[in-house]
Amino acid sequence: MQIKNVMVVGAGQMGAGIAQVFAQAEYNVILHDLKEEFVQKGMDYISKNMNRQVEKERMTREAADAVIGRLKPSTDLNNAANVDLVVEAVVENLDIKAKLFTHLDDIAPDHAILATNTSSLPITEIAAATNRPERVIGMHFMNPVPVMKLVEIIRGLATTDEIYQLIEETTKTLKKTPVEVNDFPGFVSNRILMPMINEAIYTVYEGVAEPEAIDEVMKLGMNHPMGPLTLADFIGLDTCLFIMETLHEGFGDDKYRPCPLLRKYVKAGWLGKKAGRGFYQYN
Ligand code: CAA
Repeated sequence: MQIKNVMVVGAGQMGAGIAQVFAQAEYNVILHDLKEEFVQKGMDYISKNMNRQVEKERMTREAADAVIGRLKPSTDLNNAANVDLVVEAVVENLDIKAKLFTHLDDIAPDHAILATNTSSLPITEIAAATNRPERVIGMHFMNPVPVMKLVEIIRGLATTDEIYQLIEETTKTLKKTPVEVNDFPGFVSNRILMPMINEAIYTVYEGVAEPEAIDEVMKLGMNHPMGPLTLADFIGLDTCLFIMETLHEGFGDDKYRPCPLLRKYVKAGWLGKKAGRGFYQYN
């Protein structure tokens, strides 16, 4: 089996980034979302990234236009009828994802692989919403997708070796590095990253240091490209809280208890960069 036609469901920052890297790797890509304005926003993000590549003389105008030309906007899920691979990147809600996978299972051809970009939800449970759990897999891209090299590939309980290998090969064609991971809450990336971010929030909460100082320690002391609080704002504090709750519930261990300050900020609507305010102020 060869993957040529791909649908990305969800045109937010992750979905648009995923669509971009597939189109750059010469796949035909359908970028799907519920409303035209959402799809347009995703297309604008990709165009902006392409224009920057042209301006920096890393890509010719023709090549950039060819990437855009391989992308087809969609608001009709029936467009999944002719694809080989679907990558889902919608909101992190198990019910919504399960319903979407049931729907995609009805529409997509029998040979199609259904992948999810979930950052912490169980692949096995999402797969159980379909009649093809052996063809369901996790493809967890990192933000910002066009820049970050890693894709965590997560097998559900029923995912076959053949599907795993095909997705691993496909990931390499995107010029990304696949890493195999089993299906546990938070996988590897968020199992390690989120408790670190949560601990950084505890150090603010307990008055150990100011946010700027905490970020400086981790940037200059550990060579992290962003401090943990800047990174939390970048990821979104609602997402950070959701992942911590998934770890806490999934393992039942208090070491994953979300910091009360994180809950407070989310309740206040201080969701980080996208909201203009989190641990820092933006605009
Ligand atoms: N989309 C596309 N490209 C972007 C971008 C975006 N949102 N943000 C930055 N870039 C590009 C820039 O255009 C620039 O590219 P060029 O060199 O081609 O111009 C390059 O990235 C470097 O950007 P900057 O010079 O502006 O800034 P920087 O050197 O500080 O790098 C960064 C920015 C890559 C985001 C860097 O700070 C970094 O690596 N931060 C950590 C990111 C990280 O940890 N991501 C994982 C988050 S966790 C996750 O995603 C999993 C989850 O489930 C929550």
